[in-house]
Amino acid sequence: MRSYHGSDFYDNDTNFKKYMERRQGQENANDTLEKPVIWQLLEDISDRHVLDLGCGDAGFGVELLNKGCAAYVGIEGSRNMVEAASSNLADYNNGTVVHTRIEEFAYPRDSYDLVLSRLAIHYLQDIERVFQCIHQCLKRNGRFVFSVEHPVITSTLQPSGTRTNWVVDNYFSEGYREQQWLGGTVQKYHRTVEDYFRAMQDAGFIVEQLRESRPVREHFLNEETYERRCRIPLFLFLAGRKSV
Ligand SMILES: C[S@@+](CC[C@H](N)C(=O)[O-])C[C@H]1O[C@@H](n2cnc3c(N)ncnc32)[C@H](O)[C@@H]1O
Repeated sequence: MRSYHGSDFYDNDTNFKKYMERRQGQENANDTLEKPVIWQLLEDISDRHVLDLGCGDAGFGVELLNKGCAAYVGIEGSRNMVEAASSNLADYNNGTVVHTRIEEFAYPRDSYDLVLSRLAIHYLQDIERVFQCIHQCLKRNGRFVFSVEHPVITSTLQPSGTRTNWVVDNYFSEGYREQQWLGGTVQKYHRTVEDYFRAMQDAGFIVEQLRESRPVREHFLNEETYERRCRIPLFLFLAGRKSV
């Protein structure tokens, strides 16, 4: 079976359809676990210029624009996602999406107040260079906030589906992984918590927050789903600031 680079995976129409169905499903992990922490980390976004790496369908861009951010630029490698994002942003003259890979975007210097990335960075092979580009493109005091699949998950990727047990193995063997996910094979990169933290510092960021996706009962309709989510962290978050 063909194995796909992160954004190419979503250009397979079957994978794209399955992903969108799951993403919009009731009690999906993104909305119950990931998004609430992202909102806490973003702080005040009014009048901010925002760059969103791996923006998907830019549904979150629409939320940011509706909450008063000054301008939103989404970067997205998948053509299917870019089409969905263009349609979602059509009514906003201060919202755009650029079809390119995160690694290839021409990051303009000192331009953004906030660089955001939700669940895309674990698809990147070289985060050191990308984090330097992100640092350069932020204005002074600008912030970088991102989420990734938690390293206890990416260490030993198992097929998608409802699990009753987990394996954490090869934790300190950073690098390439493949996962059977939504019926396809996708390429990801595993790093330890320490690797992400150090990559932020090496790029020049002051790391201000580190979070995990601790479940909050009110975000779940179903007690069983909540209890299952209490077993293992799905996501890791870091937030840093450019001080110079
Ligand atoms: C799990 S989805 C998350 C989408 C969106 N950030 C959200 O949270 O709804 C990951 C997205 O990152 C994009 N992506 C992955 N690797 C990428 C790369 N190297 N360059 C640009 N986009 C990439 C994928 O195409 C996909 O839309």
